[in-house]
Amino acid sequence: MIQRFDQIVVDLPEPNGPNPAAAAAIQELMGGKFGEMSTLMNYTFQSFNFRGREKYRPFYDLICNIAAEEYSHIEAVSAAINLLLSGATPRADRNKPFGEDAASKKKQSANKKKYGDANPAPLSDPVTQFYRYHFATSAQAALPFDSMGNPWNGSYVTCTGNLKLDLLHNFFLECGARAGKSRVYEMSNDPTARAMCGYLLVRGGVHIVAYAKALEKLSGVPVGGVLPIPDVSNRKFPEARKLEEEQGLHTIMWKWCPEDTYTQLNEIWNGPHPEDGQELVVRDEMPPAFPWPEFAEEPQLCAPGEIDPEMLNYYAAKLT
Ligand SMILES: [Fe+2]
Repeated sequence: MIQRFDQIVVDLPEPNGPNPAAAAAIQELMGGKFGEMSTLMNYTFQSFNFRGREKYRPFYDLICNIAAEEYSHIEAVSAAINLLLSGATPRADRNKPFGEDAASKKKQSANKKKYGDANPAPLSDPVTQFYRYHFATSAQAALPFDSMGNPWNGSYVTCTGNLKLDLLHNFFLECGARAGKSRVYEMSNDPTARAMCGYLLVRGGVHIVAYAKALEKLSGVPVGGVLPIPDVSNRKFPEARKLEEEQGLHTIMWKWCPEDTYTQLNEIWNGPHPEDGQELVVRDEMPPAFPWPEFAEEPQLCAPGEIDPEMLNYYAAKLT
């Protein structure tokens, strides 16, 4: 079972302004093959299908616990996309009579003043945006698609049932995810995009090390010796460096469960971090959390939409 909290795991700053191109790039971190939906669903299904749970309890605990954390990552990616798309088109309300359609000259000029020249096509800008799903099928919002509009799909889930193979896959998946995060980071210097990427680089780094350690425990092979993959340190990204140096976020395995659950995590998550030697710790608590950012209404997309009395009066007058 799972419990939800109306909070978000990363404190995202306001964007510099609407940035549909950055939002489209970030979609890769949501619904791409190596995106957060993939990590979430891979570990979720592996935990559902885990056989020999009692014998391999530390590995089961690890996969379950990381699966839970991944939910907070799809939330973080969604929030960043929504923030970057807020105000991306003029907030003119199609339901309001404005411009030359208004009943009187006075109303025409009042509406012109309020809505500018947005009538009749407040959504004309997105015609030139390549990622039109953000405007045509959603109200400037996150979608379970990649950066090219391909929907996430279940074939991205590897759940062979062989523990060594699944852990090896998870290690590979997290390394691929890390490459994606560092590339998206370089695609935009917007503070929202970079805060989100920086956070995910650090926490994804924890998952890479965790799966490397799990493989080491299971096979005796020192997988951690090949880290980092790709071989650029998180410390090169200022937002990630801050979280590591000031909060030690790269050394902490949070527990996303009650106290008496997943109690054998520390059999895998222990010892020194392979990059800086700091001691790895399991914290018997959820991570610090923050309120969800506010997403303003977007009336030009009828989001969330409401019956506008002015619009009803306008059409009633036209019909009589
Ligand atoms: Fe993640």
